[in-house]
Amino acid sequence: MIKATIFDLDGVIVDTAKYHYLAWRKLANSLGFDFSKADNEQLKGVSRMESLELILKIGGQTLGETRKQELAKQKNDWYLEHLDKMTDDEILPGVVDFLDDVAAQSIKIALGSASKNAELTLKKVGLLERFEVVIDGTKTTRSKPDPQVFLLGAAGLGVEPAHCVVFEDAAKGIDAALSAGMYAIGMGNETELGHAHLVLPSLEGVRCTALQKQLVR
Ligand code: BG6
Ligand code: MG
Repeated sequence: MIKATIFDLDGVIVDTAKYHYLAWRKLANSLGFDFSKADNEQLKGVSRMESLELILKIGGQTLGETRKQELAKQKNDWYLEHLDKMTDDEILPGVVDFLDDVAAQSIKIALGSASKNAELTLKKVGLLERFEVVIDGTKTTRSKPDPQVFLLGAAGLGVEPAHCVVFEDAAKGIDAALSAGMYAIGMGNETELGHAHLVLPSLEGVRCTALQKQLVR
């Protein structure tokens, strides 16, 4: 029985994963090395500072704390330039109809994201009020694959993990949902997300009743 849904933000609700990638690539290029889309998969779902550490490792660079803080700020400034131009056109296909359907079935809705820009992003696309609980990078201390973000979401909603379903585009997010003892739905492809209970290309045409039947057999 599904009683709550917990959604990742970037790459699940809005098409912002590409902006994180563009900003990180620009930062890597400014440091004199390149950063591929394949490298970027490791960063999905990971906090800003941990992402920076991974990038510096890829580029073989060791930097001091002050410089790292400056670079993280620079990346975020570049990211926010994209976010600033974003409209509700960048809500991913099927998301609004699916959120309507979830609410109509009296199933609860939370956000579980690593981003410190989560509330700003949801406001920007007019979806903030759809989420009863928002757990984001300002409220967590551990990055996915740690289950903390989803367990806090479930606790905030007052629903047992076993009755929650998580929607995620990051392999580390699927790991986090599974170790929280929740159902995990991968948004993307089987190659990256094959360890989820179910993988969907998008939420277009997806409805709760059919989804429950697929998950809870
Ligand atoms: C996650 C993204 O949702 O948030 C990562 O998948 C990003 O790519 C992370 O690094 C942190 O985001 P922010 O907005 O706090 O820099
Ligand atoms: Mg994501």
